[in-house]
Amino acid sequence: MTAGRESADAALGAGAGWRDQPPLDPDVRRAFLDARRRSQEERYDTLHAPTYDEHWGEISPSHADFVGRLLERTRPGGMILDAPCGTGKYWPLVLASGRTLVGIDQSAGMLRVAAAKHPEVPIARLGLQELAIEGLFDAVMCVDALENVGPEDWPVVLARLCRAARPGVPIYMTVELLDEDEVRQGFVAARAAGIPVVPGEHVDVTSDGALGYHYYPDAASVRSWVDGAGLERLDGRVGDGYQHLLVRRPG
Ligand SMILES: C[S@@+](CC[C@H](N)C(=O)[O-])C[C@H]1O[C@@H](n2cnc3c(N)ncnc32)[C@H](O)[C@@H]1O
Repeated sequence: MTAGRESADAALGAGAGWRDQPPLDPDVRRAFLDARRRSQEERYDTLHAPTYDEHWGEISPSHADFVGRLLERTRPGGMILDAPCGTGKYWPLVLASGRTLVGIDQSAGMLRVAAAKHPEVPIARLGLQELAIEGLFDAVMCVDALENVGPEDWPVVLARLCRAARPGVPIYMTVELLDEDEVRQGFVAARAAGIPVVPGEHVDVTSDGALGYHYYPDAASVRSWVDGAGLERLDGRVGDGYQHLLVRRPG
């Protein structure tokens, strides 16, 4: 890093210990997160749904490994909640193992693609933040989606995923990883543009003026949210750009 950039970063509060920032106005943050969520929903509906399988349909080795670990711990014939399910990328694997599925997603466009491929799987248009099912599922998977969830919503979302699972059953979740320097640069650029991001949030202003949104929490925050939701940590490893976590609802 150059001396010039170091001092610019320091002026923006993004020097050493940059993730410790004074809090922003909660109302400003809520409005920002709600707008990001609406924009992501629209992008998935219109931009990603038609080409998602073509571009991201392949399952990486570490994802396949963790879906396998989840299935090993799920009773035969058990019902798995895939939240959010997107286009149902993992459904062939899960169905071939003899388990059943329910898929939820906030994007109607993504759900339409999933339903066209697997009309036998029940689906619902539902956000992670609104999921209110109690103790129904024999396992839960939340794959490549938590990067869409802002820090204020993480505790709510983990609590809801936990509650949807029956006591004692496994939950597989992923946390997307990005080089810390890139995360910091994203924070500095967004703040310089007057966007009310908090550390870890990354927005890309697209040609149509929309803001893409991803959030990259640090490992300590993830640990504290997982523990705060009362989830027991079973297994975890980094692979293919993600932290894979297998946890369990106690009971
Ligand atoms: C990258 S895709 C992953 C989908 C699927 N789990 C997979 O691995 O292929 C992310 C999905 O999360 C959904 N999503 C993002 N934020 C959400 C939220 N707050 N509630 C429900 N779904 C959400 C998007 O609509 C999209 O289908």
